[in-house]
Amino acid sequence: MKLSKQQIKQHQKCVDLLNQEEMTYDEKLFVYENWYPAYDNQIGTIASFFTPVGLARDFQLMVGGKSVVDLCAGIGMLSFLYYHRMITWEETEVRVVCVERNYGFIEVGKKLFPEAEWIHGDVLDEELIKSLGRFDMAVSNPPFGNIKSDRSSKWLKYKGNDFDLKVVEIAGYLAPMAAFILPQGSLPFTLSDPGGYRNRSTEKYLKFNRETGIVLGPSMGIDCDFYKGDWKGAAPTVEVAEVESYLVDDMTVDPPEIEPVKRETSWAELLGVNREAMSDKERRARWEEWKAMARKAGDSEVVDYWAKDNIDESCAGCVHRDKDWCKLAELPCNINPVLTLQSGMIGMACMGAGKQTAPIQQTLF
Ligand SMILES: C[S@@+](CC[C@H](N)C(=O)[O-])C[C@H]1O[C@@H](n2cnc3c(N)ncnc32)[C@H](O)[C@@H]1O
Repeated sequence: MKLSKQQIKQHQKCVDLLNQEEMTYDEKLFVYENWYPAYDNQIGTIASFFTPVGLARDFQLMVGGKSVVDLCAGIGMLSFLYYHRMITWEETEVRVVCVERNYGFIEVGKKLFPEAEWIHGDVLDEELIKSLGRFDMAVSNPPFGNIKSDRSSKWLKYKGNDFDLKVVEIAGYLAPMAAFILPQGSLPFTLSDPGGYRNRSTEKYLKFNRETGIVLGPSMGIDCDFYKGDWKGAAPTVEVAEVESYLVDDMTVDPPEIEPVKRETSWAELLGVNREAMSDKERRARWEEWKAMARKAGDSEVVDYWAKDNIDESCAGCVHRDKDWCKLAELPCNINPVLTLQSGMIGMACMGAGKQTAPIQQTLF
């Protein structure tokens, strides 16, 4: 990629800033905007098209949680903006781990984003990935298409050649949900086109979905076309996509150890600390097992309290109710995933937000 005189000047200013002892937030943003990975790296062979700052700013609104892993992180653009939103606006500390293969990028990333943990490695390295532990969320703008790597990807369920889709599967071994910047050709929809949102499954996506069971969905309306001219050295047709929920049962990662059901057990142990802790089917079976066990031990009153009392009042007529079970939250109706798990108080499984007493009427006009 040939840079203009102005681009070289801006890049040089970034190099000077990176040589300073310290940088302000605005100076860091300047570097994210103006540092050219192609300047002294071989951009063609390593496919290092960093996300434009504007798109990364929109993207970080899709991110949540207190621990985030950024795969193929480059210099940390995607997670940097999220981290700073969280500490500045939400006053919440977030753990960020960035995995990147290019050491030169890591050196720059560490200066811009020293709060993150930087791991020099290949995302196809199974041992590395499975040693990282679990995160609340994974994010990635991976290289697109058939990218060479010294590492084998035989351990993945996805058998296609597209590196971006390999990363989508890899993210599922690290987090229950993930957000990505992906080429339109790897997705079952288009959103950033003049016509707006459209379902349009590609062969690539259908193969990926068949082999992994993973479902990719759209963002909350981020128009990537708006930033098409802001990529350095490319103008890719991309979308922001998310995996709302990786199903643990579908992943080859060892499932978390689940304690056998006991009469004296905490709600978190019985039902899992979050939805990903076990399959919905297993959670419901454990609930039934616990009720039977408690009744047998003479605790029918306790069972009735959690399984029957108050449901009529709170979940009356709700379409998601199946006896004492909420099919929306996949929890007992009376177990609120925050209130009950943290303080033992009775609540509503959907926290009240999912109650639906009649089918939603579609307005026709
Ligand atoms: C498209 S760039 C995106 C960088 C950054 N995520 C962003 O949004 O600005 C892809 C990055 O993936 C890195 N990469 C390529 N292959 C990799 C691999 N096998 N493991 C880890 N990182 C890799 C490249 O060095 C590059 O920094």
